[in-house]
Amino acid sequence: MVQTNATTDRLTLRRPDDFHLHLRDGAMLQAVLPETARHFGRAIIMPNLVPPVVTAAQAAAYRDRILAALPEGMTFTPLMTLYLTEETDPEDVAAAHASGLATAVKLYPAGATTNSASGVRDFAKVRPVLEKMAEIGMPLCVHGEVTDADIDIFDREAVFIDKVLKPIRKKTPDLRVVMEHVTTQDAVDYVRDTHKNLAATITTHHLIINRNHILAGGIRPHYYCLPVAKREMHRVALVQAAISGDPRFFLGTDSAPHTDANKLLPCGCAGVFSATNTLSCLAEVFETAGKLRELEAFVSLNGARFYGLPPSGETIDLVRGAPVSYPDHIDTGDGPVTVFDPGFPLHWRVEA
Ligand code: NCD
Ligand code: ZN
Repeated sequence: MVQTNATTDRLTLRRPDDFHLHLRDGAMLQAVLPETARHFGRAIIMPNLVPPVVTAAQAAAYRDRILAALPEGMTFTPLMTLYLTEETDPEDVAAAHASGLATAVKLYPAGATTNSASGVRDFAKVRPVLEKMAEIGMPLCVHGEVTDADIDIFDREAVFIDKVLKPIRKKTPDLRVVMEHVTTQDAVDYVRDTHKNLAATITTHHLIINRNHILAGGIRPHYYCLPVAKREMHRVALVQAAISGDPRFFLGTDSAPHTDANKLLPCGCAGVFSATNTLSCLAEVFETAGKLRELEAFVSLNGARFYGLPPSGETIDLVRGAPVSYPDHIDTGDGPVTVFDPGFPLHWRVEA
């Protein structure tokens, strides 16, 4: 359904979805939700609140808070996830899925990232939940990094694939798995070499930055996120996957707001906030690669298909013109949150 005119300055896409999003709660939720709902129809909502969204009852209450925070006149469907713990009850998960409340379960290895202390240490303990999910066809969203102190942070995704993900998928081949926010050639190859029940989300920022952006010429905390961006060859592999049209790769922005006060610390939080300008950034990346025609598959079609959802019946228009202006931060009741700076001008704006 991509329509382009002769000079390719207008792109009509089905309304996109974001298959990995942090909305937080309270004042932060209030401020960041419109940034996503302005452009996206649906999003998979991460459950790493404090305390985490573990039970169906907690997910229902969180969904209500999200819908209550949605500004008048905006439409948006939050697709809820349950945070997997070693105590998660398979029947609670199955009931939440059957009722349509929960779309997926999220696996955080304990200690892997922001608010993951309640995550999984012993994967044997969550086997009954995974078996139940395989039986009912409920996807597992995976933060794919090992947490061992002796594994180099740049190797944690690749080691996770071998040490954790392959064994889980071998024991439970019918489990539908989404490797979230992949950052390596290794993960792209693993997804490509697998023919069933495996897909991956890719963030906007991992298509644009490599580790030099974080560390060369001064440390840039606003580019620090987990999984941390890797070397340039991995970024290139991610771009190749995203623009390929391969239905197993789709957008999950991992837009993860933290206040500047919490980012700019001796030990600052991990997370990049990109909701505000994500579609403009992606259009630029796809255009530079000569693949604007594949943008709709990446942002609007592939993810919905993996999750068994119909593609959106609405459309949005992206229009090319003079560089788009966007705020360098958004104000929230908790303090300012810096918007992702791609480091180059953006020419595609979403037409209101
Ligand atoms: C996320 C957050 O802040 O909640 N941070 C991040 O760097 N991506 C957590 C996550 O998705 O790992
Ligand atoms: Zn995330």
